[in-house]
Amino acid sequence: MSTRSRSSRNRIVVSDPHAEIAALREALEHQRDEDAAKERHLERYAADLRATSRRERQRERELRESHTATVRALSNAVEARDAYTAHHAERVTAYGTEIAAVIGLALSELPEVEYGFLLHDIGKVGVSDAILFKPAKLSAAERRQMELHPLIGDEIIREIEFLNPAREVVRHHHERWDGSGYPDGLAGEEIPLTARVFALADALDAITSDRPYRAASSVASAREELRRAEGQFDPAILEAFEQIPDERIEEIRAAAA
Ligand SMILES: [Fe+2]
Repeated sequence: MSTRSRSSRNRIVVSDPHAEIAALREALEHQRDEDAAKERHLERYAADLRATSRRERQRERELRESHTATVRALSNAVEARDAYTAHHAERVTAYGTEIAAVIGLALSELPEVEYGFLLHDIGKVGVSDAILFKPAKLSAAERRQMELHPLIGDEIIREIEFLNPAREVVRHHHERWDGSGYPDGLAGEEIPLTARVFALADALDAITSDRPYRAASSVASAREELRRAEGQFDPAILEAFEQIPDERIEEIRAAAA
């Protein structure tokens, strides 16, 4: 027998409240089961997503590590040619990272920029030994050949997508603040910031390293020399460098000697 009947106005009328409550309970129970199933499904979905994202992060880490290893191998290959530049790229990268941190540029978080520091002279593979290792002063024609290395380097890495952001340092690492550098004669802020940081770090390492024709200078005299050559460097970068204590510079020098 039906527990409900319809009134003339088509409204449901409860004729048996106990049966109605039982029906509602049953419906509620059913709803609970459905909700629990949905929840389990969502939990499984979330777990899948977490696993996928973990795998993605792992893959990204592996890719980055393999990129870094490749870049270091290339950088070592360039340096292996010249005994006097051993660990130069490594030290310049460390100095650059330190200076960049003072100006608020997280160079260490941008490996693709760091790659530019490590590979800055990769174009020297295209310069002959006779020019690269000539003990005497280069002739004008030889100097022109030598000054092609940023362009050759840019050309070498141009097709490698992950090295794209490194190109600004590779191409512009010999530009000078006053516009007297090469290859494009850029001046001031036309020079990419990373290349401006590089220029100072590179000069610092050159002055504080032994060369066949002169001994390494102290950090204090390197500071004086860099100040005298201020037209070459971004004044803001020079100022950032001044804030780094001598001991920190010595520490980097000793770690990558
Ligand atoms: Fe260079």
